[in-house]
Amino acid sequence: MTEDPRTPAAPQAPGAPGAPGSPGAPGSPGAPGEVLLSAERVGMTFPGADGAELDVLRDVSLTLRRGEIVALLGRSGSGKSTLLRVLAGLARPTTGRAVARGGPLTGANPDTAMVFQSFALMPWLSVLDNVELGLSASGLPRAERRTRARAAIDAIGLDGFERAYPRELSGGMQQRVGFARAFVQRPDVLLMDEPFSALDVLTAEHLRGELLEVWGAEAAPAGAICIVTHNIEEAVLLADRVLVLDGSPATIAAELPLPLPRPRDRRSPTFAAAVDALYAELTGRPAAAGAETGPPGPLTHPLPAATAGGLAGLIEIVVAHDGQADLPDLADELSFDVDDLLPLVDAGRMLRFLEVEGAQAFLTEPGWEWHGAGIAESKTRFGALAAEHAPLVRTIVRALEHSAEGALRADFFRDLLARGFGPDDAQRQLELAIDWGRFGELYDYDADTEEFVLGELAAGFTQLLTDDAGPDPREDPGRHPGGAPH
Ligand SMILES: Nc1ncnc2c1ncn2[C@@H]1O[C@H](COP(=O)(O)OP(=O)(O)OP(=O)(O)O)[C@@H](O)[C@H]1O
Ligand SMILES: [Mg+2]
Repeated sequence: MTEDPRTPAAPQAPGAPGAPGSPGAPGSPGAPGEVLLSAERVGMTFPGADGAELDVLRDVSLTLRRGEIVALLGRSGSGKSTLLRVLAGLARPTTGRAVARGGPLTGANPDTAMVFQSFALMPWLSVLDNVELGLSASGLPRAERRTRARAAIDAIGLDGFERAYPRELSGGMQQRVGFARAFVQRPDVLLMDEPFSALDVLTAEHLRGELLEVWGAEAAPAGAICIVTHNIEEAVLLADRVLVLDGSPATIAAELPLPLPRPRDRRSPTFAAAVDALYAELTGRPAAAGAETGPPGPLTHPLPAATAGGLAGLIEIVVAHDGQADLPDLADELSFDVDDLLPLVDAGRMLRFLEVEGAQAFLTEPGWEWHGAGIAESKTRFGALAAEHAPLVRTIVRALEHSAEGALRADFFRDLLARGFGPDDAQRQLELAIDWGRFGELYDYDADTEEFVLGELAAGFTQLLTDDAGPDPREDPGRHPGGAPH
Protein backbone atom coordinates (compact mmCIF):
# COMPACT_ATOMS: atom_id res chain seq x y z
CA MET A 1 0.00 0.00 0.00
CA THR A 2 1.16 3.52 -0.71
CA GLU A 3 1.86 6.13 1.90
CA ASP A 4 -0.81 8.63 2.81
CA PRO A 5 -0.28 11.33 0.16
CA ARG A 6 -0.87 14.02 2.74
CA THR A 7 2.07 15.41 4.58
CA PRO A 8 1.88 14.40 8.21
CA ALA A 9 1.95 17.39 10.49
CA ALA A 10 5.58 18.06 11.29
CA PRO A 11 6.65 18.97 14.79
CA GLN A 12 6.96 22.62 15.57
CA ALA A 13 9.06 24.26 18.20
CA PRO A 14 6.90 26.19 20.66
CA GLY A 15 6.75 29.82 19.67
CA ALA A 16 8.39 29.21 16.28
CA PRO A 17 7.08 31.44 13.53
CA GLY A 18 4.50 29.92 11.19
CA ALA A 19 6.89 29.52 8.33
CA PRO A 20 5.51 27.98 5.16
CA GLY A 21 5.50 24.25 5.51
CA SER A 22 5.20 24.23 9.26
CA PRO A 23 1.98 23.40 11.06
CA GLY A 24 0.00 25.99 12.89
CA ALA A 25 0.58 26.92 16.46
CA PRO A 26 -0.56 29.65 18.78
CA GLY A 27 2.96 31.04 18.58
CA SER A 28 2.28 32.19 15.05
CA PRO A 29 -1.06 33.98 15.01
CA GLY A 30 -1.74 35.61 11.70
CA ALA A 31 1.70 34.78 10.33
CA PRO A 32 1.61 34.35 6.60
CA GLY A 33 1.82 30.76 5.53
CA GLU A 34 1.23 28.56 2.55
CA VAL A 35 -2.28 28.82 1.13
CA LEU A 36 -4.00 25.51 1.84
CA LEU A 37 -7.53 26.16 0.69
CA SER A 38 -9.42 29.07 -0.79
CA ALA A 39 -12.82 30.11 -2.05
CA GLU A 40 -12.77 32.25 -5.15
CA ARG A 41 -15.85 34.41 -5.72
CA VAL A 42 -18.12 31.60 -4.59
CA GLY A 43 -21.82 32.07 -5.17
CA MET A 44 -24.53 29.58 -4.26
CA THR A 45 -28.12 29.59 -5.42
CA PHE A 46 -30.54 26.85 -4.48
CA PRO A 47 -33.63 26.05 -6.50
CA GLY A 48 -36.69 27.07 -4.49
CA ALA A 49 -40.33 26.16 -4.98
CA ASP A 50 -42.15 27.29 -8.16
CA GLY A 51 -38.89 27.64 -10.06
CA ALA A 52 -37.89 30.48 -7.76
CA GLU A 53 -34.26 30.70 -6.74
CA LEU A 54 -32.75 31.13 -3.33
CA ASP A 55 -29.55 33.20 -3.37
CA VAL A 56 -27.54 32.13 -0.34
CA LEU A 57 -23.94 33.19 -1.05
CA ARG A 58 -22.58 35.83 -3.40
CA ASP A 59 -19.00 36.54 -4.36
CA VAL A 60 -17.43 34.99 -1.29
CA SER A 61 -13.65 34.84 -1.42
CA LEU A 62 -11.43 33.64 1.40
CA THR A 63 -8.05 32.09 1.91
CA LEU A 64 -7.00 29.61 4.59
CA ARG A 65 -3.28 29.53 5.31
CA ARG A 66 -1.12 27.08 7.15
CA GLY A 67 -0.89 27.87 10.83
CA GLU A 68 -4.10 29.83 11.30
CA ILE A 69 -7.48 29.34 12.88
CA VAL A 70 -10.15 31.23 10.97
CA ALA A 71 -13.65 31.66 12.35
CA LEU A 72 -16.64 32.12 10.06
CA LEU A 73 -19.16 34.09 12.07
CA GLY A 74 -22.71 34.75 11.01
CA ARG A 75 -26.31 34.59 12.04
CA SER A 76 -28.42 31.50 11.67
CA GLY A 77 -29.22 30.84 8.02
CA SER A 78 -26.51 33.11 6.66
CA GLY A 79 -24.93 30.30 4.65
CA LYS A 80 -22.04 29.30 6.93
CA SER A 81 -22.58 25.55 6.59
CA THR A 82 -23.08 25.93 2.87
CA LEU A 83 -19.73 27.68 2.55
CA LEU A 84 -18.04 25.00 4.63
CA ARG A 85 -19.54 22.29 2.41
CA VAL A 86 -18.18 24.10 -0.64
CA LEU A 87 -14.72 24.14 0.95
CA ALA A 88 -15.04 20.43 1.74
CA GLY A 89 -15.98 19.79 -1.89
CA LEU A 90 -19.30 18.36 -0.73
CA ALA A 91 -21.31 21.05 -2.52
CA ARG A 92 -20.54 22.54 -5.89
CA PRO A 93 -20.89 26.31 -5.97
CA THR A 94 -23.19 27.86 -8.56
CA THR A 95 -20.51 30.39 -9.45
CA GLY A 96 -16.84 30.66 -8.53
CA ARG A 97 -14.81 27.78 -7.19
CA ALA A 98 -12.98 26.27 -4.26
CA VAL A 99 -9.26 25.68 -4.77
CA ALA A 100 -7.14 23.31 -2.69
CA ARG A 101 -3.40 22.75 -2.94
CA GLY A 102 -4.03 20.23 -5.70
CA GLY A 103 -6.10 22.64 -7.78
CA PRO A 104 -9.80 23.49 -8.19
CA LEU A 105 -12.12 21.07 -6.43
CA THR A 106 -14.33 18.89 -8.54
CA GLY A 107 -15.39 16.49 -5.83
CA ALA A 108 -14.93 15.77 -2.13
CA ASN A 109 -11.75 17.44 -0.89
CA PRO A 110 -9.49 14.68 0.51
CA ASP A 111 -7.33 17.23 2.32
CA THR A 112 -10.07 18.37 4.66
CA ALA A 113 -11.78 16.67 7.58
CA MET A 114 -15.07 17.79 9.05
CA VAL A 115 -16.34 18.01 12.61
CA PHE A 116 -20.11 18.35 12.91
CA GLN A 117 -22.34 19.95 15.51
CA SER A 118 -24.32 16.70 15.72
CA PHE A 119 -21.15 14.57 16.20
CA ALA A 120 -22.36 12.30 13.34
CA LEU A 121 -20.97 9.09 14.86
CA MET A 122 -21.87 5.57 13.79
CA PRO A 123 -23.85 4.21 16.74
CA TRP A 124 -23.04 0.58 15.93
CA LEU A 125 -19.28 1.16 15.97
CA SER A 126 -17.03 1.44 19.01
CA VAL A 127 -15.03 4.60 19.70
CA LEU A 128 -11.93 3.04 18.16
CA ASP A 129 -13.80 1.93 15.04
CA ASN A 130 -15.48 5.31 14.68
CA VAL A 131 -12.11 7.04 14.79
CA GLU A 132 -10.57 4.53 12.40
CA LEU A 133 -13.39 5.26 10.01
CA GLY A 134 -11.69 8.58 9.37
CA LEU A 135 -8.94 6.63 7.63
CA SER A 136 -11.17 4.30 5.63
CA ALA A 137 -10.30 6.03 2.35
CA SER A 138 -6.61 6.45 3.17
CA GLY A 139 -5.38 3.17 1.76
CA LEU A 140 -3.25 2.68 4.87
CA PRO A 141 -2.68 -0.86 6.19
CA ARG A 142 -4.96 -1.92 9.02
CA ALA A 143 -2.20 -1.91 11.63
CA GLU A 144 -1.17 1.63 10.74
CA ARG A 145 -4.79 2.81 10.85
CA ARG A 146 -5.15 1.30 14.31
CA THR A 147 -1.95 2.93 15.57
CA ARG A 148 -2.96 6.33 14.30
CA ALA A 149 -6.49 5.98 15.66
CA ARG A 150 -5.13 5.15 19.10
CA ALA A 151 -2.79 8.15 18.96
CA ALA A 152 -5.67 10.47 18.02
CA ILE A 153 -7.78 8.99 20.82
CA ASP A 154 -5.00 9.64 23.33
CA ALA A 155 -4.47 13.19 22.09
CA ILE A 156 -8.02 14.23 22.88
CA GLY A 157 -8.35 12.45 26.20
CA LEU A 158 -10.45 9.50 25.09
CA ASP A 159 -8.06 6.75 26.16
CA GLY A 160 -9.86 4.13 28.18
CA PHE A 161 -13.00 4.58 26.09
CA GLU A 162 -11.80 2.73 22.97
CA ARG A 163 -14.33 -0.10 23.32
CA ALA A 164 -17.26 2.08 24.36
CA TYR A 165 -20.17 2.78 22.03
CA PRO A 166 -21.35 6.32 21.37
CA ARG A 167 -24.59 5.82 23.33
CA GLU A 168 -22.54 5.15 26.47
CA LEU A 169 -20.80 8.52 26.21
CA SER A 170 -21.76 12.02 27.29
CA GLY A 171 -22.11 14.72 24.63
CA GLY A 172 -18.65 16.06 25.38
CA MET A 173 -17.06 12.62 25.03
CA GLN A 174 -18.99 11.96 21.82
CA GLN A 175 -17.67 15.17 20.33
CA ARG A 176 -14.16 14.12 21.35
CA VAL A 177 -14.71 11.08 19.14
CA GLY A 178 -15.78 13.47 16.36
CA PHE A 179 -12.54 15.42 16.89
CA ALA A 180 -10.39 12.28 16.94
CA ARG A 181 -12.00 10.97 13.75
CA ALA A 182 -11.03 14.26 12.07
CA PHE A 183 -7.56 14.57 13.66
CA VAL A 184 -6.58 11.07 12.61
CA GLN A 185 -6.78 12.16 8.99
CA ARG A 186 -4.13 14.85 9.55
CA PRO A 187 -5.94 17.08 7.11
CA ASP A 188 -4.58 20.23 5.53
CA VAL A 189 -7.64 22.01 6.85
CA LEU A 190 -9.90 20.95 9.67
CA LEU A 191 -13.42 22.22 8.97
CA MET A 192 -15.60 22.53 12.06
CA ASP A 193 -19.31 23.34 11.84
CA GLU A 194 -20.42 24.70 15.22
CA PRO A 195 -18.65 21.86 17.02
CA PHE A 196 -19.46 23.15 20.51
CA SER A 197 -23.01 24.37 20.12
CA ALA A 198 -24.71 21.10 21.06
CA LEU A 199 -22.80 20.94 24.35
CA ASP A 200 -23.58 22.52 27.69
CA VAL A 201 -21.68 25.70 28.55
CA LEU A 202 -19.04 24.13 30.79
CA THR A 203 -18.37 21.12 28.58
CA ALA A 204 -18.07 23.40 25.57
CA GLU A 205 -15.59 25.66 27.35
CA HIS A 206 -13.51 22.70 28.48
CA LEU A 207 -13.40 21.20 25.00
CA ARG A 208 -12.45 24.54 23.44
CA GLY A 209 -9.49 24.60 25.80
CA GLU A 210 -8.53 21.07 24.79
CA LEU A 211 -8.78 21.94 21.12
CA LEU A 212 -6.37 24.84 21.66
CA GLU A 213 -4.06 22.59 23.60
CA VAL A 214 -3.95 20.01 20.82
CA TRP A 215 -3.54 22.80 18.26
CA GLY A 216 -0.55 24.13 20.14
CA ALA A 217 1.07 20.72 20.67
CA GLU A 218 4.20 19.47 18.96
CA ALA A 219 2.26 17.68 16.25
CA ALA A 220 -0.73 19.89 15.39
CA PRO A 221 -3.69 17.88 14.11
CA ALA A 222 -4.15 19.97 10.97
CA GLY A 223 -2.45 22.63 8.90
CA ALA A 224 -5.26 25.12 9.51
CA ILE A 225 -8.66 25.20 11.15
CA CYS A 226 -11.77 26.87 9.78
CA ILE A 227 -14.53 26.95 12.39
CA VAL A 228 -18.11 28.04 11.81
CA THR A 229 -19.78 29.66 14.77
CA HIS A 230 -22.52 32.05 15.75
CA ASN A 231 -20.89 32.60 19.12
CA ILE A 232 -18.84 35.81 19.11
CA GLU A 233 -16.83 34.99 22.23
CA GLU A 234 -15.98 31.58 20.86
CA ALA A 235 -14.66 33.24 17.71
CA VAL A 236 -12.52 35.67 19.72
CA LEU A 237 -11.26 32.92 21.99
CA LEU A 238 -10.16 30.62 19.19
CA ALA A 239 -9.43 32.49 16.00
CA ASP A 240 -6.52 34.34 14.49
CA ARG A 241 -8.94 35.94 12.07
CA VAL A 242 -12.72 36.28 12.03
CA LEU A 243 -14.71 36.56 8.82
CA VAL A 244 -18.24 37.90 9.26
CA LEU A 245 -20.75 36.43 6.85
CA ASP A 246 -23.80 38.64 6.52
CA GLY A 247 -26.55 39.80 4.22
CA SER A 248 -28.96 38.09 1.92
CA PRO A 249 -27.35 36.69 -0.14
CA ALA A 250 -24.44 36.55 2.25
CA THR A 251 -21.08 38.11 1.50
CA ILE A 252 -18.00 38.52 3.66
CA ALA A 253 -19.13 41.69 5.37
CA ALA A 254 -16.06 42.19 7.53
CA GLU A 255 -12.74 40.69 8.46
CA LEU A 256 -11.21 41.13 11.89
CA PRO A 257 -7.65 40.01 12.62
CA LEU A 258 -7.14 38.92 16.23
CA PRO A 259 -3.46 39.22 17.06
CA LEU A 260 -4.09 38.53 20.76
CA PRO A 261 -1.59 36.37 22.65
CA ARG A 262 -2.67 32.98 23.91
CA PRO A 263 -3.97 31.80 26.24
CA ARG A 264 -6.59 34.49 25.89
CA ASP A 265 -8.23 36.08 28.87
CA ARG A 266 -11.94 36.69 28.40
CA ARG A 267 -11.72 39.51 30.98
CA SER A 268 -8.96 41.44 29.26
CA PRO A 269 -9.84 44.80 27.66
CA THR A 270 -8.52 43.69 24.26
CA PHE A 271 -10.75 40.62 24.35
CA ALA A 272 -13.78 42.74 25.25
CA ALA A 273 -12.92 45.26 22.52
CA ALA A 274 -12.81 42.50 19.89
CA VAL A 275 -16.15 41.13 21.11
CA ASP A 276 -17.65 44.63 20.94
CA ALA A 277 -16.29 45.17 17.44
CA LEU A 278 -17.88 41.94 16.22
CA TYR A 279 -21.20 42.75 17.88
CA ALA A 280 -21.12 46.12 16.15
CA GLU A 281 -20.43 44.38 12.82
CA LEU A 282 -23.35 42.02 13.25
CA THR A 283 -25.82 44.60 14.52
CA GLY A 284 -24.53 47.45 12.38
CA ARG A 285 -26.53 46.34 9.41
CA PRO A 286 -30.05 44.97 9.31
CA ALA A 287 -30.47 41.20 9.26
CA ALA A 288 -31.57 41.42 5.66
CA ALA A 289 -29.64 43.74 3.42
CA GLY A 290 -32.59 44.35 1.14
CA ALA A 291 -32.97 48.05 1.78
CA GLU A 292 -31.31 49.00 -1.47
CA THR A 293 -33.64 46.83 -3.52
CA GLY A 294 -36.83 48.65 -2.60
CA PRO A 295 -39.22 49.07 0.27
CA PRO A 296 -39.13 46.44 3.00
CA GLY A 297 -41.14 43.37 2.12
CA PRO A 298 -41.63 39.92 3.66
CA LEU A 299 -38.93 38.44 1.42
CA THR A 300 -36.25 41.11 1.85
CA HIS A 301 -36.95 41.78 5.54
CA PRO A 302 -37.88 38.49 7.21
CA LEU A 303 -39.25 38.44 10.72
CA PRO A 304 -36.40 37.91 13.19
CA ALA A 305 -36.63 34.57 14.99
CA ALA A 306 -38.05 36.07 18.18
CA THR A 307 -41.40 35.57 19.82
CA ALA A 308 -43.41 38.50 21.11
CA GLY A 309 -43.02 37.13 24.63
CA GLY A 310 -39.25 36.88 24.22
CA LEU A 311 -39.12 40.44 22.96
CA ALA A 312 -41.14 41.62 25.95
CA GLY A 313 -38.59 39.85 28.17
CA LEU A 314 -35.68 41.59 26.48
CA ILE A 315 -37.35 44.99 26.85
CA GLU A 316 -37.86 44.27 30.56
CA ILE A 317 -34.17 43.59 30.90
CA VAL A 318 -33.13 46.71 29.00
CA VAL A 319 -35.46 48.73 31.23
CA ALA A 320 -33.78 47.17 34.25
CA HIS A 321 -30.51 48.56 32.82
CA ASP A 322 -32.09 52.03 32.74
CA GLY A 323 -32.85 51.76 29.06
CA GLN A 324 -29.32 51.21 27.84
CA ALA A 325 -27.50 47.90 27.68
CA ASP A 326 -24.20 46.65 26.35
CA LEU A 327 -25.06 43.67 24.14
CA PRO A 328 -22.03 41.51 25.01
CA ASP A 329 -22.71 42.08 28.73
CA LEU A 330 -26.35 41.26 28.22
CA ALA A 331 -25.49 38.05 26.37
CA ASP A 332 -23.14 37.13 29.19
CA GLU A 333 -25.69 37.87 31.86
CA LEU A 334 -28.27 35.70 30.13
CA SER A 335 -25.79 33.02 28.93
CA PHE A 336 -27.02 33.79 25.43
CA ASP A 337 -25.01 33.64 22.27
CA VAL A 338 -25.54 35.72 19.16
CA ASP A 339 -28.27 33.49 17.80
CA ASP A 340 -30.27 33.85 20.98
CA LEU A 341 -29.81 37.57 21.44
CA LEU A 342 -29.61 39.16 18.00
CA PRO A 343 -33.02 38.03 16.74
CA LEU A 344 -34.58 39.61 19.85
CA VAL A 345 -32.60 42.80 19.25
CA ASP A 346 -33.57 42.75 15.56
CA ALA A 347 -37.22 42.34 16.50
CA GLY A 348 -36.93 45.26 18.93
CA ARG A 349 -35.44 47.38 16.16
CA MET A 350 -38.00 46.29 13.59
CA LEU A 351 -40.81 47.42 15.89
CA ARG A 352 -38.92 50.60 16.84
CA PHE A 353 -38.62 49.66 20.53
CA LEU A 354 -34.81 49.64 20.39
CA GLU A 355 -32.00 51.42 18.65
CA VAL A 356 -28.49 50.04 18.42
CA GLU A 357 -25.25 51.96 18.21
CA GLY A 358 -22.09 49.91 18.10
CA ALA A 359 -22.63 47.24 20.71
CA GLN A 360 -25.06 49.35 22.78
CA ALA A 361 -28.84 48.94 22.69
CA PHE A 362 -31.07 51.85 23.72
CA LEU A 363 -34.74 51.84 24.54
CA THR A 364 -36.66 54.31 22.34
CA GLU A 365 -39.65 56.43 23.31
CA PRO A 366 -42.09 53.81 21.90
CA GLY A 367 -40.07 51.20 23.81
CA TRP A 368 -40.56 53.01 27.12
CA GLU A 369 -44.24 53.56 26.32
CA TRP A 370 -44.72 49.91 25.46
CA HIS A 371 -43.08 48.86 28.69
CA GLY A 372 -45.17 51.28 30.73
CA ALA A 373 -48.50 50.30 29.18
CA GLY A 374 -51.01 47.96 30.79
CA ILE A 375 -51.65 44.52 29.32
CA ALA A 376 -54.43 45.46 26.89
CA GLU A 377 -52.74 48.69 25.85
CA SER A 378 -49.40 46.97 25.29
CA LYS A 379 -51.02 44.43 22.99
CA THR A 380 -52.68 47.19 20.98
CA ARG A 381 -49.41 49.07 20.64
CA PHE A 382 -47.57 45.92 19.65
CA GLY A 383 -50.22 45.15 17.06
CA ALA A 384 -50.13 48.65 15.59
CA LEU A 385 -46.33 48.66 15.31
CA ALA A 386 -46.20 45.11 13.92
CA ALA A 387 -48.87 45.93 11.33
CA GLU A 388 -46.87 48.97 10.31
CA HIS A 389 -43.26 47.79 10.49
CA ALA A 390 -43.16 44.00 10.29
CA PRO A 391 -43.51 43.31 6.56
CA LEU A 392 -44.95 39.79 6.75
CA VAL A 393 -47.44 40.74 9.47
CA ARG A 394 -48.43 43.74 7.43
CA THR A 395 -48.88 41.63 4.31
CA ILE A 396 -51.04 39.12 6.17
CA VAL A 397 -53.26 41.80 7.69
CA ARG A 398 -53.65 43.54 4.37
CA ALA A 399 -54.43 40.35 2.47
CA LEU A 400 -57.03 39.42 5.10
CA GLU A 401 -58.53 42.87 4.82
CA HIS A 402 -58.93 42.34 1.12
CA SER A 403 -60.41 38.86 1.39
CA ALA A 404 -64.16 38.39 1.23
CA GLU A 405 -64.37 36.29 4.37
CA GLY A 406 -61.58 37.86 6.39
CA ALA A 407 -59.89 34.46 6.25
CA LEU A 408 -57.16 33.00 4.08
CA ARG A 409 -55.44 29.64 3.93
CA ALA A 410 -51.85 29.47 5.15
CA ASP A 411 -50.85 28.05 1.75
CA PHE A 412 -51.54 31.43 0.21
CA PHE A 413 -48.75 32.94 2.30
CA ARG A 414 -46.58 29.84 2.03
CA ASP A 415 -46.58 30.22 -1.76
CA LEU A 416 -45.62 33.84 -1.39
CA LEU A 417 -42.76 32.98 0.99
CA ALA A 418 -41.54 30.16 -1.27
CA ARG A 419 -40.25 32.84 -3.62
CA GLY A 420 -37.59 33.77 -1.09
CA PHE A 421 -37.26 30.96 1.44
CA GLY A 422 -36.78 27.21 1.57
CA PRO A 423 -39.76 25.26 2.99
CA ASP A 424 -38.43 25.14 6.56
CA ASP A 425 -37.61 28.84 6.69
CA ALA A 426 -40.97 29.70 5.10
CA GLN A 427 -42.73 27.66 7.77
CA ARG A 428 -40.70 29.36 10.49
CA GLN A 429 -41.67 32.77 9.09
CA LEU A 430 -45.34 31.78 9.19
CA GLU A 431 -45.03 30.56 12.77
CA LEU A 432 -43.43 33.84 13.80
CA ALA A 433 -46.13 35.82 12.00
CA ILE A 434 -48.78 33.77 13.80
CA ASP A 435 -47.15 34.53 17.15
CA TRP A 436 -46.80 38.24 16.46
CA GLY A 437 -50.30 38.54 14.97
CA ARG A 438 -51.87 36.74 17.90
CA PHE A 439 -49.97 38.77 20.46
CA GLY A 440 -51.03 42.00 18.75
CA GLU A 441 -54.57 40.62 18.31
CA LEU A 442 -54.37 41.41 14.63
CA TYR A 443 -55.43 38.00 13.44
CA ASP A 444 -55.70 34.45 14.69
CA TYR A 445 -54.71 31.15 13.15
CA ASP A 446 -56.89 28.08 13.08
CA ALA A 447 -54.57 25.06 13.05
CA ASP A 448 -57.42 22.68 12.09
CA THR A 449 -58.42 24.51 8.93
CA GLU A 450 -54.93 26.01 8.44
CA GLU A 451 -56.49 29.43 8.03
CA PHE A 452 -55.55 32.91 9.11
CA VAL A 453 -58.57 34.78 10.42
CA LEU A 454 -58.78 38.54 10.75
CA GLY A 455 -59.06 39.88 14.29
CA GLU A 456 -61.20 42.81 15.25
CA LEU A 457 -58.30 45.10 15.93
CA ALA A 458 -56.93 44.66 12.46
CA ALA A 459 -59.95 46.34 10.93
CA GLY A 460 -58.88 49.53 12.64
CA PHE A 461 -55.57 49.56 10.82
CA THR A 462 -57.02 49.78 7.32
CA GLN A 463 -55.90 53.35 7.00
CA LEU A 464 -52.42 52.57 8.21
CA LEU A 465 -52.07 49.93 5.56
CA THR A 466 -53.28 51.74 2.47
CA ASP A 467 -49.73 52.57 1.43
CA ASP A 468 -48.53 48.98 1.86
CA ALA A 469 -45.51 48.01 -0.16
CA GLY A 470 -46.09 44.27 0.09
CA PRO A 471 -47.27 42.00 -2.69
CA ASP A 472 -50.64 42.53 -4.33
CA PRO A 473 -53.42 41.05 -2.29
CA ARG A 474 -55.94 38.84 -4.03
CA GLU A 475 -58.36 40.69 -6.25
CA ASP A 476 -61.65 40.76 -4.46
CA PRO A 477 -64.34 43.06 -5.82
CA GLY A 478 -66.79 41.87 -3.16
CA ARG A 479 -64.74 43.27 -0.31
CA HIS A 480 -66.37 45.92 1.79
CA PRO A 481 -64.52 48.82 3.36
CA GLY A 482 -62.83 48.13 6.63
CA GLY A 483 -62.58 44.42 5.93
CA ALA A 484 -64.86 41.69 7.08
CA PRO A 485 -63.99 40.33 10.48
CA HIS A 486 -64.93 36.72 10.84
N1 LIG B 1 -29.56 21.90 -0.14
C1 LIG B 1 -30.28 23.01 0.04
N2 LIG B 1 -31.37 23.27 -0.72
C2 LIG B 1 -32.09 24.40 -0.56
N3 LIG B 1 -31.80 25.35 0.35
C3 LIG B 1 -30.73 25.16 1.14
C4 LIG B 1 -29.91 23.98 1.04
N4 LIG B 1 -28.92 24.07 1.96
C5 LIG B 1 -29.11 25.24 2.61
N5 LIG B 1 -30.20 25.89 2.12
C6 LIG B 1 -30.68 27.20 2.56
O1 LIG B 1 -29.58 28.08 2.50
C7 LIG B 1 -29.61 28.99 3.58
C8 LIG B 1 -28.31 28.94 4.33
O2 LIG B 1 -28.20 27.67 4.96
P1 LIG B 1 -26.96 27.24 5.84
O3 LIG B 1 -27.31 25.93 6.47
O4 LIG B 1 -25.74 27.30 5.03
O5 LIG B 1 -26.92 28.41 6.92
P2 LIG B 1 -26.12 28.48 8.29
O6 LIG B 1 -25.52 29.84 8.34
O7 LIG B 1 -25.23 27.31 8.43
O8 LIG B 1 -27.30 28.42 9.35
P3 LIG B 1 -27.32 27.81 10.84
O9 LIG B 1 -26.61 28.80 11.71
O10 LIG B 1 -28.76 27.74 11.15
O11 LIG B 1 -26.63 26.48 10.81
C9 LIG B 1 -30.82 28.63 4.41
O12 LIG B 1 -31.87 29.48 4.04
C10 LIG B 1 -31.13 27.21 3.99
O13 LIG B 1 -32.50 26.94 4.11
MG1 LIG C 1 -25.14 25.76 9.77
